[in-house]
Amino acid sequence: MTVSGDEKHPASPDIASTGAATTAPTEETAPEVPEVATAAESSKGAEVVEAPTEPADAAAETSAPAKASAILPALESALAAAFGTAPASATEVNIDANVESVPSADAQTTETETTEETDEAVGFNDTDSAVGSLEYTSLASLTDSIREFRHENGRTYHSLSAGKYWCPNDDPENSRLDVQHHAHRLTFDGALCCCPKQAGAKRVLDLGTGTGIWSMEYADEHPDAEVIGVDLSPIQPEFVPPNCSFEVDDIEKEWTWSRPFDFIWWRALLGCFSDPQAMVQKCFDNLEPGGYLEMHDGTFPLECDDGTMPEDCAILQLANLAKEGSARLGRPLDVSPNYAKIMEAAGFVNIVFGKYKWPTNSWPRDHKMKTLGNWTLYNVEGGLEGLFLALLTRGMNMTVEETMVLCAAARKDLRDRSIHAYWPA
Ligand SMILES: C[S@@+](CC[C@H](N)C(=O)[O-])C[C@H]1O[C@@H](n2cnc3c(N)ncnc32)[C@H](O)[C@@H]1O
Repeated sequence: MTVSGDEKHPASPDIASTGAATTAPTEETAPEVPEVATAAESSKGAEVVEAPTEPADAAAETSAPAKASAILPALESALAAAFGTAPASATEVNIDANVESVPSADAQTTETETTEETDEAVGFNDTDSAVGSLEYTSLASLTDSIREFRHENGRTYHSLSAGKYWCPNDDPENSRLDVQHHAHRLTFDGALCCCPKQAGAKRVLDLGTGTGIWSMEYADEHPDAEVIGVDLSPIQPEFVPPNCSFEVDDIEKEWTWSRPFDFIWWRALLGCFSDPQAMVQKCFDNLEPGGYLEMHDGTFPLECDDGTMPEDCAILQLANLAKEGSARLGRPLDVSPNYAKIMEAAGFVNIVFGKYKWPTNSWPRDHKMKTLGNWTLYNVEGGLEGLFLALLTRGMNMTVEETMVLCAAARKDLRDRSIHAYWPA
């Protein structure tokens, strides 16, 4: 789901997203194009408008700007390995290694270790965009405890406000985030955002920046913008564009930035917050008049429009358990369908709401959607254990072994091209 809202500036242009509202895409019949519902409002009344049908853009993957393409050669070859004749991708190797490293079901959480041990366990290397900028001067206030990641089930997790967020912060997860970023750019034909701040902004806040890839690319494309990325984990690179900086903080706590922003970016933060309304309100309160908040999030579970996803298939079970686990943990995964209402309640105007589909694999016939499906399979299949371990062990009291068995079965479903499922994105 994509939502952009303009604060206190009713005259802002409408940001109708590209795409088309269609019936269920099937391999045999309909072209697989994103489904888009656009909600626009100029005051307080939301009007839902169906976007007109238009041909899908087959040239999408070639239109990503130069910075995104910098990561492409390595990713493309990994993708080729995953879907070509090679028996196993690097990601699969990582996952197997992770399974082996899981100690036992009754030793799911261990205390933090020393910084050296942690860095080694995380597997940092100098060429990875996810290398932490641990010695970076702007992060001088970082304490050792923030760098000492928590170990749980063979993965590492953030230590600031420990236990809040459900994905690991190690190399496999950080690589997955960079792959997911590429899928986002493909979805929007190379664009980094959809709102008018595509043309540039003065002061930008990237909430839950992760590896910082979006912040760095936005800063590169807009040298006049000052871009700040903030995250619980210090996993951002040391060498960044001069107009980009990273901070480690818990954004559920009080915000201490003294000057307002004119653009706040929120992506892939589903399941992060106990009170999404309060978070959106903070965004509103920290934007200058006419500023924009743009939110991109998926929702759970995955969907299918043509009845080819069996009710009892493993991937749907996994997604439903994750949804329930996240609710039990008090940070639900399925909030994004309500974002437009949440924005409106916070005071935003000119709200635009869009729905997109990420096919589970290459099942669609349409070229762009097939490409997106390949990237999505690479993203989700490669990150499966990281995505679901904490939600199912912490939230549903499942054992590591039970979770791994379900993930293995779900992996088969993810690769099954007769299942025409998609992740709402
Ligand atoms: C799925 S990642 C998305 C990263 C990035 N936005 C992207 O799209 O690539 C979610 C990120 O939100 C961060 N996060 C979750 N809760 C947070 C909080 N309370 N304060 C700061 N960051 C948080 C996590 O550490 C993680 O890096």
